[in-house]
Amino acid sequence: MRIVLVGPPGAGKGTQAQFLAKELAIPHISTGDLFRANISQGTALGKEAQSYMKQGLLVPDSVTIAMAKDRLQKPDTGNGFLLDGFPRNLHQAEALDEFLREQNIGLDAVLDLEVPEDEVVKRIAGRRICRNDSSHVFHVVYGPPKAEGVCDVCGGELYQREDDNEQIVRRRLEEYHNQTEPIIGYYKNQGLVKTISALGKVDEVTERALDALKSRT
Ligand code: AP5
Ligand code: ZN
Repeated sequence: MRIVLVGPPGAGKGTQAQFLAKELAIPHISTGDLFRANISQGTALGKEAQSYMKQGLLVPDSVTIAMAKDRLQKPDTGNGFLLDGFPRNLHQAEALDEFLREQNIGLDAVLDLEVPEDEVVKRIAGRRICRNDSSHVFHVVYGPPKAEGVCDVCGGELYQREDDNEQIVRRRLEEYHNQTEPIIGYYKNQGLVKTISALGKVDEVTERALDALKSRT
């Protein structure tokens, strides 16, 4: 399956993507994780992305689209993919459509995670991620690691993301409303959108997501 995951910052996209990708046997491709990997490796791409990310702004399309296309061309996408955090505006959505059209393929679904803003703020405030791999995500209250400050998956050190402070989270939410929400309308016109509530336990949300992906409407 070829799926796009959309939802505000802190909705649980990364958390759900890990389970859904495993269940559907497709790679989880997160542009946020790709940028963070570049930042920790000190690449030129990472340096450019970091200057936008730390302000809560979108990284320019030219950089982001090229990186996403590059990743989508890796051989592990033969069975499909789960895109998390891309596309994030109409221009990126059109670029993705064009890229898929060139290969005579299309998206199967756009999964829209709905969550109220006060919950988003709580989720982001308590989030801790792993220095070794930013897809290893915990929450100090909702999903704490077994040992404080240590990743359950790989033993890495847990830290709080630079863009997870209140002022920057507000900016990220604004960017989401202004730039990303319009892609939901764009994909609704293509009949692809499945909206689910992202409230409740992580496994309940995963169940809801899998049911929605199986349904035809
Ligand atoms: P990105 O990394 O994509 O961040 P985001 O969209 O803001 O999303 P988050 O990672 O904050 O949240 P999430 O929905 O994955 O939630 P999570 O599962 O961690 O992007 C970061 C930046 O990179 C952007 O601001 C931008 O600058 C740049 N960027 C990325 N893509 C771009 C693009 N395409 N174009 C331009 N720029 C781009 O969950 C949050 C917390 O809640 C965790 O602690 C988790 O444990 C907890 N949690 C999850 N589910 C539940 C639950 N059901 N109950 C209780 N707690 C839960
Ligand atoms: Zn880890």
